[in-house]
Amino acid sequence: MKNSQKVSKLAELQNSTMEKQLNTLQEDALESLKKINNLEKLKELEVEYLGRKGKLTEILRGLKDVPAEQKPLAGQLSNKVKTIISDAIEAKKQEIERIDVEKSLNEGFFDTTAPSTSSQIGTIHPVFETLTEVENIFSQMGFTIADGPEIESEYYNFTALNIPDDHPARDMQDTFFVEQTQHPEHGHQVLRTQTSPVQIRAMKEHGAPLRLIAPGRVFRNEATDASHDSTFHQVEGLLIDKDISIAHLKGVLEQFLTRLFDKKVSVRFRPGYFPFVEPGFEVDFSCLICEGKGCRVCKHLGWVEFMGAGMVHPNVLKAGEIDSEKYQGWAFGFGLTRLVMMRYKIPDIRLLTSGDLRFLKQF
Ligand code: DAH
Repeated sequence: MKNSQKVSKLAELQNSTMEKQLNTLQEDALESLKKINNLEKLKELEVEYLGRKGKLTEILRGLKDVPAEQKPLAGQLSNKVKTIISDAIEAKKQEIERIDVEKSLNEGFFDTTAPSTSSQIGTIHPVFETLTEVENIFSQMGFTIADGPEIESEYYNFTALNIPDDHPARDMQDTFFVEQTQHPEHGHQVLRTQTSPVQIRAMKEHGAPLRLIAPGRVFRNEATDASHDSTFHQVEGLLIDKDISIAHLKGVLEQFLTRLFDKKVSVRFRPGYFPFVEPGFEVDFSCLICEGKGCRVCKHLGWVEFMGAGMVHPNVLKAGEIDSEKYQGWAFGFGLTRLVMMRYKIPDIRLLTSGDLRFLKQF
């Protein structure tokens, strides 16, 4: 037998021994679990199988002898076995606790003031966590937090934002139309494709001067993949006053990002087109990983695309019933979801709305 054949035979042997051991361990654990009827014994069983010096650890010691190419498989199997056993233990725990409560109820005494025996404490969703920080930073800079409906009219979502009926922007942001009769002036009801309509609502409601952010969910009818989802979060910003320029926007954004990421961040503006602003910009920030030098994350550009912004178009001010001769201002809109993904290095956007506890419990 050639040397290489020998090695792969040995690998198979070792791997299958480990596989057998893991399967037997799983069967034994599940079998022993059946006989357990109190929490103390349950804890003992958990330590015996999954504890630091337990049977699973014992088997995993053999992993070092498994050849490198077989290791991932062996690792996967042992993770699977571990999850099966610990899920079964958790289920048993809940069963025992339920029986205990039923017993004490039957015995006529149930201490309603006693602390709950099992409580699963939730965690704050990463989007909500980041949103809270974003709101805090902008509040401290004097911005109010505004809100608008998720089911919007075509008028607020498009027309009032200077996007005419036949403008391709309406296709650009593939829209979910809500099946309903058409309003004579406001058109169909749609799921808002952007948070920008809140600009119009806020201008009409409060007039100038104005300084707000409007975070919220937006919806787009598009195929999903690791970086696109049909639901995601944006944050809109709007500042209307006298003598306002893009220099103020640059200052506000650098302050915001530097505080959010806790390190010095700079921004740059490139020309960009959005119907509701003139001039319009694409705004990038300096890469957090390489600080502008260029790395894989920023595709060696030193900058990361961040958002759209610009000076609010006079037609938009008009729709918001603000005198464009007296007042001007800027607006911006960024994808909060993308910021969250960058912040926590989340590789797939769909994880955020999956409701998968294995993901959520990490925060
Ligand atoms: N609403 C735009 C979008 O969803 C983003 C945006 C661009 C918002 C420029 C703005 C702006 O307020 O000025 O793509």
